Amino acid sequence: MSENDSKHDSTKKTFSREEMCKLSKPERLRWVEQMRVFYPLWKEISEEIQRCHQMKAIAAEPQCMLLVGPSGAGKSTLVSSYAQRHPAIVTDKVTLRSVVMATIPSPASISNLETALLSALGDPAATRGTIGAREYRLIRYFKEICNVDLLILDELQHFVDRDNQKILQTASNWLKTFVKETKVSCILVGLQGEAEDVVDANPQLARLFGDPYILAPFEWDETRPENTINKFRIFLSELEKLLPLKEPSYLANYETALRCFAACDGIISYLMALIRRATYLALEKDCEHLDLDFLSKAFTQRLAGERRGIPNPFIGDLPNLEEIRKNKPKQKPGKHNKRGTNQRSKPRNPDEPPEERMKDIF
Ligand SMILES: Nc1ncnc2c1ncn2[C@@H]1O[C@H](COP(=O)(O)OP(=O)(O)OP(=O)(O)O)[C@@H](O)[C@H]1O
Ligand SMILES: [Mg+2]
Repeated sequence: MSENDSKHDSTKKTFSREEMCKLSKPERLRWVEQMRVFYPLWKEISEEIQRCHQMKAIAAEPQCMLLVGPSGAGKSTLVSSYAQRHPAIVTDKVTLRSVVMATIPSPASISNLETALLSALGDPAATRGTIGAREYRLIRYFKEICNVDLLILDELQHFVDRDNQKILQTASNWLKTFVKETKVSCILVGLQGEAEDVVDANPQLARLFGDPYILAPFEWDETRPENTINKFRIFLSELEKLLPLKEPSYLANYETALRCFAACDGIISYLMALIRRATYLALEKDCEHLDLDFLSKAFTQRLAGERRGIPNPFIGDLPNLEEIRKNKPKQKPGKHNKRGTNQRSKPRNPDEPPEERMKDIF
């Protein structure tokens, strides 16, 4: 279960472990930087993106989806991976772009959104023309020239004015009108706790979106191992299969997994930084597996700063997650940490009582 857009051989999507291990050291390191773990939540979200993409041709209304998650959860990686799998097709006359992906500039305005979209479409004069002229050009590109089916916009929280936390309504209105006019399927991606507010603040935009999909960090809960610990260990096991090392590292074994979890707090970006650095250190020493020593050094080199206050979880006794959680600097309650499940937020069936009342009933 892996995806990898390798630069070594563009005709080839994946390498077997044997093939990977035959690569030179720099090539193996490049592989480590590019590897993508294809895990169940990633698959579920990618399939929903694909559904929106495919429905463009037949749907009466634009198919829209909101993807949220905390920083480092892998949102941009997931959507750019989807976009990379649908590259532009250059014909004699035009360049067809079924998928267009852009980052929303900060703070978002109609003008810089237009520039970002025109650049993503490869327009060499992306900054030129009045707002109206560029909008006209964009609509023609989307509908007539490039035949865009799916628009992915990352960093939706850039629609929030940092100075006063107000939603930039003019820009969000423009986006709503643009999506409706072009009927393009649209995936909006952003920070959990802020991106939802952007969509909710504009009822006409909100009407196009269902409940958000949440790409959240892994959890470690001994009372719910199936849904938490096991998912994390499956991820580690898939990750290990991608490592260009000849010998097993047993990352998914309970104790190593617990140490890795303590190091990264379930956040993929931390975990990948740790494993990438540990692999680098192992290859430097011509060692064909990862051990606690490499992981410990990688933690000190890559994560100790970002995860300040946490003793190195790869040294000594097994880390105590309760202690780590207790000593963790407290996050201020508020906009950035309103929700925290690792599941897609399920639309509540209006016929069912809300969860709070269910607790009272049982
Ligand atoms: N499925 C995956 N397999 C391998 N690496 C991954 C995967 N998902 C994320 N990563 C790695 O995690 C790191 C962070 O991912 P990414 O930038 O996508 O997070 P993000 O949710 O967009 O964060 P932010 O909100 O700060 O933009 C990247 O180095 C990326 O390579
Ligand atoms: Mg991102």
